[in-house]
Amino acid sequence: MYTALLLLILAASILCLGGIYYKRSVTFGLLVPGALLMIIIAFLSTAVLPSMEKIPSTPKGLPYTEKQLLGRKIYVREGCVYCHTQQVRPIKTDAGLGSVSQAGDYLYDYPHLLGTERTGPDLSHLGGKYEDQWHRNHLTNPRPKRPEEEGMPGKVPGSIMPAFSYLSGEEMDALIAYLQALR
Ligand code: HEC
Repeated sequence: MYTALLLLILAASILCLGGIYYKRSVTFGLLVPGALLMIIIAFLSTAVLPSMEKIPSTPKGLPYTEKQLLGRKIYVREGCVYCHTQQVRPIKTDAGLGSVSQAGDYLYDYPHLLGTERTGPDLSHLGGKYEDQWHRNHLTNPRPKRPEEEGMPGKVPGSIMPAFSYLSGEEMDALIAYLQALR
């Protein structure tokens, strides 16, 4: 692919030099066709060629089931992405968050949910970290409300995450299935 691009640039240079010779004018022989060619090459190399590149699938980049897809829609609808990222960068700040994200991890993520803010923790490798019941308790209300809820799995004292107790049973199940699929 990159050889093709190099050949194209070479052909363009020859054409431009030929243009100077043929037109006997630098403006019309070199500058105008040169500028047009640069635009075409820039478009090919930044838009067309990268979109043709085949991204290899990774163990994390698996298709979602119907239920997980519904959960993903709820994740989008409820704005979880505004507080949680799903990306581990190869930098010091992200050390300890698990394996670094690769393009193939997001093969079935459209629109992607990489996120930009970490008001809450990164959720890239959340799946399997907690039991479903932990998530149910946490999503219903992350904070312990009654004394008997102190120390209950999924109750995080002082958490600033909103409560999502209004989700229907089906929506809650789907959201948890999606969260467990983030591995
Ligand atoms: C206003 C910001 C905010 C929003 C919106 C939000 N969260 Fe959180 N989330 C947090 C914070 C802060 C924490 C850390 C405290 C805690 O565990 O409750 C957290 C923790 C979590 C955890 C535990 C992560 C771990 O590794 O322990 C999960 C799972 C989670 N959130 C899921 C969600 C889901 C799903 C949604 C959308 C339905 C959501 N959050 C929306 C702020 C937010």
